[in-house]
Amino acid sequence: MERILVVDDDPSMRYSLNRMLEGQGLAVSLAKNGIEALEQFAQDQPDLVVMDIKMPGQSGLEVLKEIKERDPKALVILMTAFGTTETAIEAMKFGAFDYILKPFDIPQMRGLVGRALEVSRMMKKMVALPDREKTGAAEETIVGSSPVMQQIYKMIGQVAPTEVTALLRGESGTGKELVARAIYHHSRRADKPFLPVNCAAIPETLLESELFGHEKGSFTGALTRRIGKFEQGHGGTIFLDEIGDMTPATQAKILRVLQDRQFERLGGSERITVDLRLIVATNKDLEKAIRDGSFRQDLYYRLKVVSIHLPPLRERKEDIPELVRYFLQRFRVDVNREVLDISPKALEKLMRYPWPGNVRELENAVKRAMVIAKGQTLLAEDFLLEGGEEAMGPAEHLDLEERLRIRMEPVFKELQELSRRSPGADLMSELEKILIKRALQETKGNQVQAAVLLGISRNTLRSKIERYRIRKDVSIVEEE
Ligand SMILES: Nc1ncnc2c1ncn2[C@@H]1O[C@H](COP(=O)(O)OP(=O)(O)OP(=O)(O)O)[C@@H](O)[C@H]1O
Ligand SMILES: [Mg+2]
Repeated sequence: MERILVVDDDPSMRYSLNRMLEGQGLAVSLAKNGIEALEQFAQDQPDLVVMDIKMPGQSGLEVLKEIKERDPKALVILMTAFGTTETAIEAMKFGAFDYILKPFDIPQMRGLVGRALEVSRMMKKMVALPDREKTGAAEETIVGSSPVMQQIYKMIGQVAPTEVTALLRGESGTGKELVARAIYHHSRRADKPFLPVNCAAIPETLLESELFGHEKGSFTGALTRRIGKFEQGHGGTIFLDEIGDMTPATQAKILRVLQDRQFERLGGSERITVDLRLIVATNKDLEKAIRDGSFRQDLYYRLKVVSIHLPPLRERKEDIPELVRYFLQRFRVDVNREVLDISPKALEKLMRYPWPGNVRELENAVKRAMVIAKGQTLLAEDFLLEGGEEAMGPAEHLDLEERLRIRMEPVFKELQELSRRSPGADLMSELEKILIKRALQETKGNQVQAAVLLGISRNTLRSKIERYRIRKDVSIVEEE
């Protein structure tokens, strides 16, 4: 269970945050001042700290500094009442993950905590390369002994200890993020922060501000100064995911960061120099993007120097058996079942399938098969693959779920982002609406299947359809 430390001198704030966060399935500890906070921090080693700035005795800012000295990777969200935002901005410079203005609403805080924990997971989960001795239990391994994969391990090993920017390329689900984390963990900056930024998930207009920060009044809505990820990640590593989705104007600025480690905040003239390691990834065809003018050639040439191409799974099918065994082992606890093996026939079926979703799709297929398997061995019938013999039936759920997830993830992140920036708008309901509509479209209006996709009961789905009046937009076929 993930641990979170809440620091606030106001008992009612501690109470409500405690309730909210426990409701999110987190182990919460509470502290009412800086001294307690530092004690608890040492004792619990929380994954995240949520702390008030204004407290009697040591201020949240001072506590933040001390926490960061003890652990540069510590993630801290600061809370501040309106009017003291300048302090909060200073806090960002000291390496706070983010700050939130009081009063805030629950979805806003939830979204922020969710994002911070995601980063914490990315930082913590070690990725081991084959041949290296195990260093911990929570370790993931990059699996595959095919010649291409061996070549990749070699490159990771060569690139990691250097400071060069690595470009990771490959289709969705081929392991780019995994490789990015492996590079980070094997680099000299492994004890410093790792900040992922998914460029595709952040609306174009906000991306630059997210990366570079902005000065107060630099654009409508810029009420305060913002410290961007590049400044925040000073000393550490930034993972720019989906770099192919940036506008050429942003690309030009990124190029400057790559070359000189310099930039200005939006609307600012102060030149900021940072010490950063960049890792970038894309699943786009950059050569094509250059031809149609959406990707800058100069940036491309700069990035291309050290690029690692992750091959699609269909081009290294010999890795499938090894991957399946690895996933069987890894999900044993999750699924709470002793599934030990896979039948030769099932394996044959997996070898025939083209895996458009690559390793991620295989991972999900194995997990699902483990859930529905009757015995200790996965059989061919436990794998229901798209376009396979069993094109109909429960098989479709997984593939639909996967497809839906890939498409919805950016939407979801964008909505979270917006909800943070324009508090008040009921974006969660908007999201729910979009999800339900999509699920109904995917399932051609079949509510039973749509409910499965959405992970909610059919009754809940029904009542939401009523509430949002979705009937008007989607033709619904009732079917049992
Ligand atoms: N070689 C591998 N060995 C073990 N697991 C892998 C391997 N490659 C990918 N995975 C797993 O597959 C899933 C997808 O990988 P990852 O998120 O790194 O893909 P990606 O290339 O970043 O995809 P996208 O472009 O969609 O973001 C993850 O759960 C990852 O752990
Ligand atoms: Mg990725």
